[in-house]
Amino acid sequence: MQTFLRGRNLVSDLDFSKEEVETVLDLAWDLKRKRAVGERHAHLLDKTLGMLFFFSSTRTRCSFEAGMAQLGGHAAFIESRTTQISHGDTAKEIGEILGRYFDGLAIRHCDWQEGNAYINEVAAASRVPVLNMQCDVYHPFQCLADLMTIMEKKGRDLRRKKIVVSWAYASSYLKPISVPQSLILQMPRFGMDVTLAYPEEFPLMPEIVDEARSQARQHGTAFEIVHDMKESFTDADVVYAKSWGPLLTTADPDEGKQLQDRYQDWITDQDKMQVAAPDAIYMHPLPADRDIEVTSEVMDGPQSVVYDEAENRLHVQKATMALTMR
Ligand code: CP
Repeated sequence: MQTFLRGRNLVSDLDFSKEEVETVLDLAWDLKRKRAVGERHAHLLDKTLGMLFFFSSTRTRCSFEAGMAQLGGHAAFIESRTTQISHGDTAKEIGEILGRYFDGLAIRHCDWQEGNAYINEVAAASRVPVLNMQCDVYHPFQCLADLMTIMEKKGRDLRRKKIVVSWAYASSYLKPISVPQSLILQMPRFGMDVTLAYPEEFPLMPEIVDEARSQARQHGTAFEIVHDMKESFTDADVVYAKSWGPLLTTADPDEGKQLQDRYQDWITDQDKMQVAAPDAIYMHPLPADRDIEVTSEVMDGPQSVVYDEAENRLHVQKATMALTMR
């Protein structure tokens, strides 16, 4: 068991080894139990986390903020537009300066081809751990919460369990590709067979897909790409279907929306869930476009685990902060 994570950043899903992820999960379950029975767990007494947001959030902001308070510390919510970033504070200056005020920095920056580079630049200049609250490439804490939830529902040995990571239609906006990318990178390490499904115009980053294939090879799991939503659900143990934008195909949001609108039948509904394993679970990081991305029947149905999944954000983030910010 690898326990020494003090001072470490979590920007990409693979920044922590498999053994280190297992340590995070073990501690997350311990903290979850402690919270359930009201046992104090002030592992970060008097510590502070600076949370810098360039993009809106419900779950991420609230779970990091609540988590820091439960660990005995404090989280400061900072919206980029209320700072001097637009007037010249560079990523290096943010890392240098905020790193001297806080014991950890957490950043959400989802702008395509900007967010990940920004977070890495801050991390390079920061003397304290930098945690990725979602960028254009990765959403590592969502993925840790997803892994924790899958293990709670399917057991800790996930070998030969099939997860389908599928594109779904949304009308609200062109969503980032970070969630599916994190899932295909992390799940093979824990033995899951991955089926990635999307319409041809919605590929993920080729270097991420190559790395996911490499992880699958290393861990002896299956990895396939298909372009039919219902077919991809066949015998799945975990159905994870969400929308993302055609960011690799077009930089024009209007063209992206037109492409997206061609695939309105890519909705998770009961008909498609029928071809998955009878005890399959349905997952979504939320927010979802209800009755567009997924029917309310599925979202509110017995196979849906979306609220447990949202709750587990709190526990994996507390575990990671306790390990890295001591
Ligand atoms: N799943 C997730 O990251 O939710 P928020 O965008 O509300 O933080």
